[in-house]
Amino acid sequence: MRIRVWRQRGPADAGHFETHELAEVSPEMSLMELLDVLNDQIVAEGGEPIAFESDCREGICGACGVTVDGTPHGPAPRTPSCRQHLRAFGGVDELTIEPLRSAAFPVIRDLVVDRSALDALIEAGGHVDVMAGTAPDADALPVPHDAAESALDFAACIGCGACVAACPNGAAHLFAGAKLAHLAMLPQPAIERGRRAKAIGAVLDETFGPCSTYGECAEVCPAGIPLTAVAAVARERLRR
Ligand code: SF4
Ligand code: FES
Repeated sequence: MRIRVWRQRGPADAGHFETHELAEVSPEMSLMELLDVLNDQIVAEGGEPIAFESDCREGICGACGVTVDGTPHGPAPRTPSCRQHLRAFGGVDELTIEPLRSAAFPVIRDLVVDRSALDALIEAGGHVDVMAGTAPDADALPVPHDAAESALDFAACIGCGACVAACPNGAAHLFAGAKLAHLAMLPQPAIERGRRAKAIGAVLDETFGPCSTYGECAEVCPAGIPLTAVAAVARERLRR
């Protein structure tokens, strides 16, 4: 397999593609395993290994996002980079792997990008800070079943940033909407939903592009966050 991979020594470096041939490739390999094997080969040849991020390799942490043949995460739909397996790539013998591309995500090195712009959204309002006292009895605050299920669906966002990279505008509305919708459905977080939406909205406006509802974000989202999340951003911002 021929692999074109993005190399960039640091944020100030222009970067370039580097091409490698790998002989020992199995269809059962994940993308991260492919990069592990490629790094073994590069190190054996005396080169610098490719910097990339991964942690859980189980689709939970959101650390691993890369762009494969132009698609954030890769060709298998609704699947994070670490769960993309070569058997799903249709027998290709060449791959192009580069970082998640967005103005809000500067490249730190090779395939590693700085996604702290997403952290700024969470710091602004993706949390609950109402005074809730001591832990209440489990049944003291009943949550309707449908609201609990819906909140859990939106809470499935793993913060990978693929939605931002897929968006032609570099918008983060799917990510922000997932947080706003999730917290708005639960009784204690809902107390500050208006303030939360305005704070998150201010960071969205300052750091990311506008949403034109292209829908590319929901197409690549490994957590299946629906496009209705972007409507939550506008709806929640109208609250007092
Ligand atoms: S909304 Fe989906 S694509 Fe965007 S950060 Fe969350 S999990 Fe990743
Ligand atoms: S490494 Fe954790 S989601 Fe991919």
